[in-house]
This record gives sequence, C-alpha cells and structure tokens, in this order.
Amino acid sequence: MSRRRRRKLPAEPVEVTINELSHDGRGVGRHEDKVILVHGSLPGERVMARITGGRKDQDEGRAEEVLEASADRVEPRCPWFGYCGGCVLQHMDHRAQLKFKASRLEENLTRIGRVEPARWLEPVVGHPWSYRRRARLSARWVRGKGRVLVGFRELDGRFVADIESCSILHPAFADRLMSLSGLLGRLSVAGAVPQIETAAGDGMAAIILRHLEPLTDEDRNQLVNWSVETGIAVYLQPKGPDTVHRLSPERFELTYEIPAFGLELGFQPQHFIQVNQEVNLALISRAIELLEPGPDDRVLDLFCGLGNFTLPLACRAGQVTAVEGEEALVQAGRDNANRNSITNTNFLTADLAEPDLDLPWIRKGFERVLIDPPRSGAAEVLPLVHASGASRLVYVSCNPETLARDAGRLVHEFGFRLAAAGVADMFPHTAHVESIALFERQQ
Ligand SMILES: C[S@@+](CC[C@H](N)C(=O)[O-])C[C@H]1O[C@@H](n2cnc3c(N)ncnc32)[C@H](O)[C@@H]1O
Repeated sequence: MSRRRRRKLPAEPVEVTINELSHDGRGVGRHEDKVILVHGSLPGERVMARITGGRKDQDEGRAEEVLEASADRVEPRCPWFGYCGGCVLQHMDHRAQLKFKASRLEENLTRIGRVEPARWLEPVVGHPWSYRRRARLSARWVRGKGRVLVGFRELDGRFVADIESCSILHPAFADRLMSLSGLLGRLSVAGAVPQIETAAGDGMAAIILRHLEPLTDEDRNQLVNWSVETGIAVYLQPKGPDTVHRLSPERFELTYEIPAFGLELGFQPQHFIQVNQEVNLALISRAIELLEPGPDDRVLDLFCGLGNFTLPLACRAGQVTAVEGEEALVQAGRDNANRNSITNTNFLTADLAEPDLDLPWIRKGFERVLIDPPRSGAAEVLPLVHASGASRLVYVSCNPETLARDAGRLVHEFGFRLAAAGVADMFPHTAHVESIALFERQQ
C-alpha cells in the first residue's frame, strides 16, 4: 500500500500579489502557477506569505509581512487576530468589509442566479464590536498550560485558541474567558467539558455547560457560586440538546425587546436567536418596510423560529401563519404571542425540507410571505411560496449562494422579479454575509 508523503513546505515566506478576496475572507494570489489563499491580506497588496499547507492545485498561507498595503488596511483591534479563528477581517476597514460583502452578494446573484436587483438597498448596519450575543465556545484542558482554554478555535481549526478576551463577544462575556477558564479548572470534570454556549438577552446572560461526565456536589457548588458572583445563569447539558436544564439561579428568564413594535420576546439559551441584536432590530424594520403588510393581509412566515419576525408582522397584518421545524421554538413562538397579547398568529410545526403542498394552511392563500431559512436555503418551499399566491416575498438569508440559487428559480421559473437586495452587517469582522431581498410577482 502506498503511503501519502507529507509535503515539505518552503522554509522561507514567498512574495505574493493579492488580486481579490475569497468567499471566506482570504486574499487570493498566485505563486509558481498555483492559486494561493493568504490569511490577513487584502486585494491590491503585496505580502510575504508563509505557506502553511494546501492541495495539489492550491496553496494556503498567512501574511507575515505587508510590503505594499491596501488603503483599506487598518490596525486589528484584537491582539489575537490572525491566530484566533473568531474573526478574519479585522485588518480591513469596516466600510470596506461592507463593500466586500455587497460585492459577494452581487457576484453570487449574477453568477448563480443570473439575476440583478432593480434596486440596491443601503446596508443594514449596527455598532461593529461587542455584538455577538450568542456564541459556541470550545473548551479544552491543556496539561502543558496547566489550565482549561476557553475560546474560539484557532484559525486553522485544530486547537482551541488561547485568548483572554474577545472584542466581538457581548459585553457580558467579552472579558470573562479567563473567569470561565478558572471555573472549569476548579471542576472535577475539567477535562470532560468540550463546549460552553453563551447567550445574552437585554440585561441578562446565561451559559450552557456541556459536560460528558457526571458532576459532583462540589462541582455544582462551584457553578452556583460563579453564577451568584457574576449574575450569569448557569445551565447544564449532560447529553443531547433536549437535556439542557438550569442549575442557577432558581428563577431566571432571557428576554429581548423589539421597541419599534412594543414587543418583548422570551427565549431559552439554546434557542436560535439572531446573533446581533442591533442589526436584528434594524433588519426587522427593513423587512416590514419592504413587505408592506396591510391590516387585511394574510402573511406566511416560514422558518419563523421563536417569532422574531412573526410578532412584528402580526402588529401590522391581519393574520400571520408562522411555520418552523423545531417544536420547542414553535412553543416559544406561541408563548411569545401570549406574552404580548397577540391573537392573530398561528404557529405550526412542519419540516420545510419536505413540505406538503396539500396542507390546509397552504391552500388558504397569502398576500405576503417572509422566509428566513438556514444556510441550506429554501429550495423546497419555493413551489409553496408560488402556490400561496403572494404578491410580495421578503427573503432573509445567511448564505448568499443559496439565496442566489433560490432567487434564480423565483425569477426564471416562478415569474417573480427581484425588486431589491442588500446586505445586513450581522457578523462584522467575519466573512459571513447576511442579506435581504424583495421579490414581487410579475403581473
Ligand atoms: C435563520 S433561522 C431564522 C429564525 C427566525 N426567523 C428568527 O429570525 O429568529 C432558521 C430557522 O429555520 C429552522 N429550520 C431549519 N431547518 C428547518 C426545516 N427543515 N423545516 C422547518 N424549519 C427549519 C431553524 O430551526 C431556525 O429556527
């Protein structure tokens, strides 16, 4: 049997001219007739790049020295930038990041969907730091360091990054990584906690500690004491997602407000919520502005989660039917409607990857549709959107490639026109692109 030989990487950095940014935020250049993707570089730059790996047809590396800098280059705020994988664009001016994201949306719509919006929307923006109110942090006991590391994974994804603070995390957690590290280090199960999830509402926060081995009474005391000291609720997850339960405090609830609509939503720390609350609020207003629901309109909200768009829509429309696959979120949606005394919503559970066109709620017909699918997009529900009879559709997307694919079908197969599109700055300093698009049915 032939064994693959590990490739010997060049000992010295190589000079590369960067022409563009890849979809994941790396500079793209050429070296010795091969494409090279260089972390920490920008289009128009000449850099010395250390080659760190790659494939037969493509090298990968990181910029060690900038010989000629782009006008868009700025000093990264975080000392761990280039090592921690939490951000990849901190070295790029924030306005240039937005331009990059808008150009990615445009390029995908043109190349994949063969569509162009009639109007480009101004980006939906918020403050670019301390925005991440939900995160999944990795944890690992490292003997050599004598402590548990808590943070994002390193840029190459192999190890947990050894970082002390984080400029994009919500303020409740930004400076608490060492505190979490110390807490885990005091537990008997320090080596059996692979992950901590963080969640923040308006003025309250929680962690979910995933533990692979049972906790002792002393572990529980340590966790309760930490919760009392920090004011952060501690939830435990001994097995799958259904086993999440609160340890401390006895009474606690995560909530966030949507002030423009006078709403307050409750959620559990494991629930899906939009990561960036400021941008979320602006995105909700933008979506409703574009959708223009009237008081007699029936609205269909697909992939509705816990009602983030549903309840604001219900404040403007006649009736909203909201559909979601996760039963716990559907229940949270109903609870949120009750909490806000909203009576014109109907929350339903359905697997939208296999929608049934014969379901009674689809046959009712709708004037407006909003969809906010996961990264895989909404291919399976497009016939349903078409059959609904809706004249306007707002599509909120966290993946410009699947948005472009679905936009192509809506336009070329189902007779909609792409009236407007633009990006939302949901994840500053990362390469993730959130976008919003308005489709109108052609007469
Ligand atoms: C991007 S989130 C949007 C949630 C919500 N609109 C919000 O703003 O909070 C996508 C939602 O789609 C749901 N989802 C994913 N796959 C699904 C499927 N096959 N059927 C129904 N819902 C699904 C997820 O549970 C999640 O709540």
